[in-house]
Amino acid sequence: MMKRLGILTSGGDAPGMNAAIRAAVRTASGRGLSMVGYIDGYTGFVAGEFQELDDRSVGNIIQRGGTFIGTSRCDEFLDADVRAAAVRQMRDAGVDGLVVIGGDGSFRGALALQVEHAVPIAGVPGTIDNDVFGTDETIGFDTAVNTAVLAIDQVRDTSESTGMMFFVEVMGRRSGAIALHTAVAAGASGVLVPEEHESIDVLVRRLRESIARGKRSHIIVVAEGDEAGGAFAVAQQVGKEVGHPYRVVVLGHVQRGGRPSARDRIIASQAGALAVTALAEGRYGVMIGRQGGMPVEVPFDEAVKTVRPPGALELLHLAQTIS
Ligand code: F6P
Repeated sequence: MMKRLGILTSGGDAPGMNAAIRAAVRTASGRGLSMVGYIDGYTGFVAGEFQELDDRSVGNIIQRGGTFIGTSRCDEFLDADVRAAAVRQMRDAGVDGLVVIGGDGSFRGALALQVEHAVPIAGVPGTIDNDVFGTDETIGFDTAVNTAVLAIDQVRDTSESTGMMFFVEVMGRRSGAIALHTAVAAGASGVLVPEEHESIDVLVRRLRESIARGKRSHIIVVAEGDEAGGAFAVAQQVGKEVGHPYRVVVLGHVQRGGRPSARDRIIASQAGALAVTALAEGRYGVMIGRQGGMPVEVPFDEAVKTVRPPGALELLHLAQTIS
């Protein structure tokens, strides 16, 4: 019988994480469960550092980006002895189960706790990258794409006014999801992503043709992890070959912060609440994903199986066709 749950956010923060924590805490309290929040993700879990969370402590956070309990990338947690000590500490503090909010790396840590120590865990996919297997959407992705699109709309004003090409780098070391969605929504002339090799020659030819047609604004979206290098490397090569003035904009962590979109608040609230419901009802080792527009429980070992293939690759073709 569960009495007390822990919650942590891990890896890169994502807009909507606070909404998920809020929903989890309030669902727990509605079921008579107390909850603690581990500080800075697995770092606080290892150190036994947490704060009590009650209904009031999660007031006025649904609209805030980031995560108010902190997050980290905790290399120490890769060590099985460290994990064992952390679980002993967790049990001494009377914590019976854990809600983990993060990406696939965070879930690999959670799966280890479940397999090695039978810790009851429910996961909530939270990462701007939208690269978790078993869910169509992750918390933070919608906000990140909207932030990037807004920034590009502004850059386009300058591109149109001056005729310069702009290479805009968006986040995604291993995932082109943000780049692909942003490129289509912002009407980009080209997009480069890590999952697909796009020939620079083709991009150069297309840009030359559109300049010859009299088009003035040119936006090329480059995912941070593209094999050609970041936006600076691509710009140098393409800019030289096209022979046209250009500028580079790296959006970076601007995309990770900011107030979550309504969409992210809603899916985060659903997932946070359902994660606690799963634990309270004895369904352990599941991630609350979304498939076909509905929340679903996905077994953890499936969710960490592999990096999700970008469901959005069809957008690559669309972006090129309609640019
Ligand atoms: O996983 C989210 C993400 O923002 C990626 O898009 C990016 O590659 C990475 O985190 C950056 O991580 P850090 O903030 O640790 O440099």
